[in-house]
Amino acid sequence: MKNRNFLPALATSVLLLTSVAVSGQTAAESGYTASNAPRKVEIREQDRQRAAELVSRMTLSEKIAYISGLRSFYIRAVERLGIPEIRMADGPQGVRNNTRSTLYPCGMMTAATWNRDLALELGRSLARDCRARGVDILLGPGVNICRSPLCGRNFEYFGEDPYLTSETAVGYILGLQERGVMATIKHFALNNQEWSRHNASSDADERTMQEIYFPAFRKAVQQAGVGSVMDSYNLIWGVHASENRWLNVDVLRRQWGFEGIVMSDWTSTYSTAGIVRGGLDLEMPKGWYFNEEGILPLLESGVIHERDLDEKVCHILQTLSAFGFLDRQSRPTKVGEDDPASVQTALDIAREGIVLLKNDGDLLPLGTNGRTKGAKGRILVLGPNAEEVPHGGGSGSVTPFGTVSVYEGLKQTLGEKNVELLSEERLYASIDAAVRPDSLSACTGAGESGYRADYYLGLKPEGDVLHTRIEPTVEGSWGYGAPFEDMPDDGYSVSWEGFYKAPEQGLLRAVLSGDDGYRLFVNGRQIGGDWGRHALSSRTVFLPVEKDSLYHFRFEFFEAAGEARARLQLGLRRDDVLRDAARRASAIVYCGGFNADLEGEGFDRPFELPGSQTADLELLTGLNPRTVMVLHAGSAVDFRGWGDRVPAILMAWYPGQEGGRAVAEVLTGRVCPSGKLPVSMEQRWEDNPVFDSYYDRSKAVHKRVTYTEGVFVGYRGYDRNGVAPRYPFGYGLSYTTFSYSNLTVEPLGGSRVRVAFDVANTGKVDGREVAQVYVSDCEASVPRPEKELKHYAKVEIPRGKSVHVELELTDEAFGYYDVEAGKFVVEPGDFVISVGGNSADRPLRATVTLR
Ligand code: BGC
Repeated sequence: MKNRNFLPALATSVLLLTSVAVSGQTAAESGYTASNAPRKVEIREQDRQRAAELVSRMTLSEKIAYISGLRSFYIRAVERLGIPEIRMADGPQGVRNNTRSTLYPCGMMTAATWNRDLALELGRSLARDCRARGVDILLGPGVNICRSPLCGRNFEYFGEDPYLTSETAVGYILGLQERGVMATIKHFALNNQEWSRHNASSDADERTMQEIYFPAFRKAVQQAGVGSVMDSYNLIWGVHASENRWLNVDVLRRQWGFEGIVMSDWTSTYSTAGIVRGGLDLEMPKGWYFNEEGILPLLESGVIHERDLDEKVCHILQTLSAFGFLDRQSRPTKVGEDDPASVQTALDIAREGIVLLKNDGDLLPLGTNGRTKGAKGRILVLGPNAEEVPHGGGSGSVTPFGTVSVYEGLKQTLGEKNVELLSEERLYASIDAAVRPDSLSACTGAGESGYRADYYLGLKPEGDVLHTRIEPTVEGSWGYGAPFEDMPDDGYSVSWEGFYKAPEQGLLRAVLSGDDGYRLFVNGRQIGGDWGRHALSSRTVFLPVEKDSLYHFRFEFFEAAGEARARLQLGLRRDDVLRDAARRASAIVYCGGFNADLEGEGFDRPFELPGSQTADLELLTGLNPRTVMVLHAGSAVDFRGWGDRVPAILMAWYPGQEGGRAVAEVLTGRVCPSGKLPVSMEQRWEDNPVFDSYYDRSKAVHKRVTYTEGVFVGYRGYDRNGVAPRYPFGYGLSYTTFSYSNLTVEPLGGSRVRVAFDVANTGKVDGREVAQVYVSDCEASVPRPEKELKHYAKVEIPRGKSVHVELELTDEAFGYYDVEAGKFVVEPGDFVISVGGNSADRPLRATVTLR
């Protein structure tokens, strides 16, 4: 056991020194490139005084009104005192709320660039977009740690590691705020699942919170001077975040020194006394609890005092004053709403955030003319996302002015004649029903095409029919609501019936999915389904069909009670069409993954790829070995069944409006991929360190989620459990290769250590590498992760050249949170510094002793 004679606690701000110079030159710079260093907004004494003076002139009614939102996204004006109205908007990947705006790549993709300059540029671009629309406060960034791949909002966040998350968040906030727009860091805290988000209590021990879940919030306050913090919906140790005084006052204000605004999430408030005393300043979107009816009796009975309200109003006004909002006109005249500079930022992030996961036999790049090694024919583009620019759903959605899909991007890059699209419409027999009545006729016999849909009360589709109608396809997405106004939200069932007349002999692939139960009968025999209460799942079954034979289909679905959304789909896919197209293609680009309906706010998503994707890829790879999967998702997915068969996989996340262009540039080698994973990607969901502690999905409401894995989340947990993920944290291939050498570690006094090494580009093309520095505590008095990311540098290296990198580690890199002492401490002793291109491949190692 080491001697517990602690070195000083963590410095509040950490100076990150990165020196990067091509071939032998060395120059000290900040973590950002020198010309780019951002400026921080701070609350000054004059702002505090101005706020106090304004509060002293406000009536009690004005104060009560002031701490609740107006028209969903405004802080109200107090015209009598010259206090202007303040406008907010979502956040985080573009400006939402009644406007079209630049749709940037999602948060996870921004983190996957591992490029601090790009995070900063994102903030600056968002600021221009905000100011062009008169938006003063942006509701972003979101920094909740990715604990499980199933959380519906992972795409908005920055991954599983607190250091990478913090660095990305700090850049975003500094860039945004420097250009006159206030950032709102969210969701404070431990909002690591979407399932049951109003009811579940996230119970992590204090050390785990401080080391894993809090750092991005702390650094947003201390390093970036974030103006506002949004409380989350969930409870923490049984107390809702907006009522949690320990969280909002003891930690946020007293420990970290926050002086800005604490606002609620939209309806994350549950009682007046709770939020007055819990440290909330501003209730959004309106005063459900911050109103005279709720507050006056509490004042009269002495449960709360007027000074509690004064304090809240002061927090708001002093922050508005520091940002200049009390004096300025928000909307500058010269900034356009569709800003080419913002579009360029969206493209730059997409280019650097794409992660090349697999490239067997160097299938990629396809070549600047799209032809791999002598292959003939055109590139075939297909899959559910081929013509889309998929994005995550919910408040993070943005409506852009324009988008470039992968199909568009490839056409623009290679010329229209070199690219063939196989649209989903051509593949689905069920969708054909609407346009080709000969292939499917309704069993009403009335000559209408489609299925007869019958709606029933109860979980069995039998008995009295409540509604009946013809529907062209079998699909439903009723969210938390009901299919008809007179039906309940839960406890109903539906059946769809129709006939299929096969135009020729072949194989029909039925892809079924549902949340909850679903099953398919053909000619009276059940051929597949998942008839139980569960989250979204899917099944694929094959059906040989004979020319001109008639097949009777009956698909059944029920929605039970619970917090899940009602969704179902039946797709009858025509494999003959798929086969013909695949055989004649020079290469296949399959655009799969999720989209806003399947991954988004308010619900968790399945691990498996939706619909027919796994089966499509199985079929395609059997016909054409030059198949590439372009995967869109906010986090890891199940690679089983397709990941081993497909030779090349691009992780394209939700890549923003320019995403298709960036994907095309990477596919054809115009851009050399340089993104690295901000999350570990597991072989199986069961391998994830939180598999046993995430929550039990079979229960309708989840009161407590205990983070029993402690600090061992993500790669920290894989290391401890001795389980190798499929793709480790920090991983990503390139079209070139890099080698690492000459590591030196030099103690600079205290816990400061200079780390220096060289990275060489040993391949045939210019490229960018993310050099990652991990620290391991050799002997500690508490269980510590085997290694933790503590620094990184993204370096551009021409082929044949090498770059010398110098970084400085501070006590932040070596400490752990000592709960008894109430602070981070560094235990003297040996630490191993390891350096490499991903968390599982660190060829350089050296030991440093801290005394
Ligand atoms: C989300 C927030 C968002 C707010 C306003 C809530 O549902 O959780 O992230 O900022 O809505 O749209």
